Amino acid sequence: MGRLVIQGERRLDGEVHIHGAKNSALPILAATLLAQGVCELHNCPALSDVRAAAAILRHLGCRVEQHGTVVTVDATAPCRGDIPDSLMREMRSSIVFLGAIVARTGGAELSFPGGCELGPRPIDLHLAALRQMGVAIHEEGGKLHCTVNGRLVGCPITLAFPSVGATENIVLAAVTAQGITTVYNAAREPEIVDLCEFLTACGARIRGAGESTLVIEGVEALHGCCHRVIPDRIETVTYMGAAAITGGSLLLRDVCPLHLQAVLPLFEEMGCRVSVREQELLVSAPQRLTRVKSVRTLPYPGFPTDAQALLMAMACVAKGTSVFVETIFESRYKHVGELMRLGARVKVEGRVAVVEGVAQLSGAPVECTDLRGGAALVLAGLAAQGTTVLSELHHLERGYEAIIKDLTAAGASLILEE
Ligand code: EPZ
Repeated sequence: MGRLVIQGERRLDGEVHIHGAKNSALPILAATLLAQGVCELHNCPALSDVRAAAAILRHLGCRVEQHGTVVTVDATAPCRGDIPDSLMREMRSSIVFLGAIVARTGGAELSFPGGCELGPRPIDLHLAALRQMGVAIHEEGGKLHCTVNGRLVGCPITLAFPSVGATENIVLAAVTAQGITTVYNAAREPEIVDLCEFLTACGARIRGAGESTLVIEGVEALHGCCHRVIPDRIETVTYMGAAAITGGSLLLRDVCPLHLQAVLPLFEEMGCRVSVREQELLVSAPQRLTRVKSVRTLPYPGFPTDAQALLMAMACVAKGTSVFVETIFESRYKHVGELMRLGARVKVEGRVAVVEGVAQLSGAPVECTDLRGGAALVLAGLAAQGTTVLSELHHLERGYEAIIKDLTAAGASLILEE
């Protein structure tokens, strides 16, 4: 993909439809491996990560079709248990296939997902849990060689950290295991609830989805189903941020306000008016934002780490000083250097970032450092004086289906240069 040329200082005004959640679609696509039949997923976002997940499913022997936002997966055919390095490298979160492949085929061979822009992405919690359920895992040459003697066995599992991915892998391994699996300190994210609702529609028996204690009673087999993916809460915050940082107003449709309870009060603290009606959210911004006193990222239902960079972009032009504490990932401030190229005043000390708001950013060439860091640079470019040229756009493609079209329709000047 080329470069995105942004002409700043244009107030956004209009409406945007929110797409299906990437971080819900990915584990659900992995879960389709467990169904002896056809699964039809609606509201699936057209993203590079979703295409990567579909490529893995096809490699494993599934028939996968995508028409618009509907993805159909037929996992009836016997499937393989290996994911080649080339496919593993395309998407870090492909580790979520591990639990499903082991449960379906009794074994798995895939490479370590490796780190990413957010720092090392360990999978010790995933592996410890699967070993407890009877998976023999041998790590050699950067690959995981997994085998199960007979059927996976359910058991009580306590997570040292409410890891989203580890919770998902445990659920995928447990739904057809023998007996009951109880997960203590499970992740509570809406994407976990959506995965459990999909699996329940396939015949799984799960209690406590969205709570810290999750109970899965293994069943013999799962059948196909039809499921609609929840809206993407981080895309929602991104578009809210675009309205907020340009002093504009946006009506967002197909949102789930319930998933944003830790975010909406911060927009209001910064001076925005937010009104919610069923699946619609209207955000209107003041001429200039006020600082947000403190943003501490936490596991759900706390403030989401994926929205940290977005709120930071807004804080860069707010009146006053804002403090951020990133408690989830050890290096999730890669976007700070690029924001400073636009004139932002940010000081990072370990997991703390202090942002002194400036009245005006000025456009410059900047690079996306990761998915949400890249989105933060789009927001900053919308507010900056003059022209901002954004490169390394492949990061954006992972999580935004139509950000250029959507923001342009609301009055932004975004030109994609090949
Ligand atoms: C999921 O990543 C999301 N990805 C992330 O979004 C999101 O930021 C994260 O959850 C937190 O909400 C997907 O759902 C595909 P974790 P995940 O396991 O599952 C540590 C995006 O681009 N940890 O909850 O990898 C880990 O290092 C991404 O949309 C271990 O130590 O997140 C991190 O510090 C960015 N050992 C913390 O837990 C483990 O075995 C949170 O990780 C697993 C995790």
